[in-house]
Amino acid sequence: MTEMPLQSLPIPNDWDRSGLPPWTYHSPALFDLERQTVFLNHWQVAGHVNDIPAPGDWLTFDLLGERAVVMRGQDAQVRAFHNLCRHRGARVVDGAQGQCRGAVVCPFHGWVYNLDGSLRGAAQPDSFGRLDRAEFALKPIEMEIFHGFVFLRFHSGPQPAVADLLAPYAADFAAYGAAALLPASTAPWQAELPVNWKAVRDVDNEGYHVPLAHPSLQELYGRDYRDIYLAGGLHVSVGVFGDRPGRRWSVRHYVKHVPERPDLPPHLRRSWTYYGLFPNTVFAFTPEGAQFYHDLPRAADSTLLTGRSYRRANETRVQRLSRYLAQRIDRDTSVEDQKLTVWSNESMRSSAFDGFHLSDHEWGLRRHHDGLRALLPVMRLSEPPEEREMAARNKEMLGTG
Ligand code: FES
Ligand SMILES: [Fe+2]
Repeated sequence: MTEMPLQSLPIPNDWDRSGLPPWTYHSPALFDLERQTVFLNHWQVAGHVNDIPAPGDWLTFDLLGERAVVMRGQDAQVRAFHNLCRHRGARVVDGAQGQCRGAVVCPFHGWVYNLDGSLRGAAQPDSFGRLDRAEFALKPIEMEIFHGFVFLRFHSGPQPAVADLLAPYAADFAAYGAAALLPASTAPWQAELPVNWKAVRDVDNEGYHVPLAHPSLQELYGRDYRDIYLAGGLHVSVGVFGDRPGRRWSVRHYVKHVPERPDLPPHLRRSWTYYGLFPNTVFAFTPEGAQFYHDLPRAADSTLLTGRSYRRANETRVQRLSRYLAQRIDRDTSVEDQKLTVWSNESMRSSAFDGFHLSDHEWGLRRHHDGLRALLPVMRLSEPPEEREMAARNKEMLGTG
């Protein structure tokens, strides 16, 4: 295992500095294609195995009409299923997370499933004539666990196994002890924004805005912030803090109280590091804790920002305090980003907007757009096709490379 800092690909000398055409931020027909081609067939993180430590513990993950439940069985195995009763499709569990005692009982008519998803029995089974229980188990969903984090994929797709996809992150995740992290709260945080999901990504995928838009982050690590671009669309951002005490209350106290981590390799000891996963997920590690966040699209103009936070086992009082301070800095940052995201999204409807003109510091944004264009070449068109022709046009462009 390497404990070396990751090395970035060089930014090309001459690259197209324009972004995606504005119409791609509000076309419902394109959004339908993104649903199938960008979201349901790419890996999504749903939580961490320690969110569901005991048999019968479960958490849910909803995405664009698909619903998953991740559950720990009597045998301690974690499994993922569609949260969909085989009788009439009700949710078999309701809420973000919870616990079943010994069995899952569908709240609609009371079909009962074992914790491994098999059907134990229907209510009033005689009313079905002959019912073959083996035929009606909960449907499994493809799942993979990477350093404790649970990844799901509703449909098979172009990405390799998570272990291969995220191999460049494995050494850092192991150094941070990701597999042993514990939940810092019992439910994901959530915020809904009336924007296209790409507007959220565009703001999050670059650090060029940090000096002006994020005074606390700038004070914390802005002088030593950099992007590391890796093959496979992976993108890491690192900010190293601690060269100055900081003037803002939360920054000053964070820098003072943040735990020393002599167990970490030197490049991670005083850094906030963000590990991106195409299309919509980021893992953030700091000396005192970790989180993941992702933007989950709901419609072309509606996106749910959500995530889960984690802490280290045997956390001391001072570690808890530094986690609280980091959360305050994060909360301010998130509010600042949300406003910029709304503005960026609005500009896509303005007749005066000529599109982006990107700096080298925004190459991450370009790479994200390139990833999308490879899946949906119709996004290369500067003028939108007719909505009803979107899918056909995209198919045609895929065919002609
Ligand atoms: S839908 Fe679940 S028991 Fe009827
Ligand atoms: Fe930001």
